[in-house]
Amino acid sequence: MKKPKIFIACDTSNTKKVNRIIKNTKNVKLKVGYKFGLEFFLSPNGRSFISKLKNEYIFLDLKLNDIPNTCESAIYSLRDLKNISYLTVHINGGLEMLKSIKKVSKKVNKNLKILGVTILTSLSDSGIRKIGYKSPIKDIVKKQASIAKSAKLDGIVCSGYEAKYVKKVCKNMEIITPGIRLPGDSEGDQKRVMTPQKSFKNGATSLVIGRSLIRGNIKKNIKKLVKLLENET
Ligand code: C5P
Repeated sequence: MKKPKIFIACDTSNTKKVNRIIKNTKNVKLKVGYKFGLEFFLSPNGRSFISKLKNEYIFLDLKLNDIPNTCESAIYSLRDLKNISYLTVHINGGLEMLKSIKKVSKKVNKNLKILGVTILTSLSDSGIRKIGYKSPIKDIVKKQASIAKSAKLDGIVCSGYEAKYVKKVCKNMEIITPGIRLPGDSEGDQKRVMTPQKSFKNGATSLVIGRSLIRGNIKKNIKKLVKLLENET
């Protein structure tokens, strides 16, 4: 059986903490990758730390969202980071922007996979109505998934709730679900949270987990996750 694929969100600006996360999350029963977002990437030593990581599975979560020309240039600016496997962009940037990013990314790093971010897991239906959306999140995400497919992106980032709909639209694409909580952990700012087991059942091909793993005793948290996933199979 394939090992469950888990991306650990290294949400910190502290390189020592990232080293601690990497050291304590190695587990033979999981395929583990490390996700770096704006907090770490924009911190004084973040970018160069990432550039020096070797033999790790790296996910750069920059959630690009700008006009096509600016996004293309941003991808060129990342061309020295050859060790990155995934980069995120907001699908809301539109089809033209997604196509431009995909085209340029192939030129600068042929191993780089582009993931389209749908409605953030920190938003609820009432939250998106305040922004002006009229449809339920599920319908917007389905639409976003089909745009990502048209742009030939490699995968979709969505909550576990929409994974089951996204997998019908985006067959053979990766589905990555954040908003994951181990049982008993608080939701914090996230609105659409789900357990790891349920998220995989709904069609996720990998999970992004931050606070449930990197807070407190990291090794213990990883063991708890492995146990939960083993009990499911
Ligand atoms: O701590 P927690 O597990 O909630 O962290 C989730 C991580 O996934 C954060 O790094 C966040 O930026 C990212 N993310 C998200 N929702 C999305 C896309 C990415 O929470 N829709």
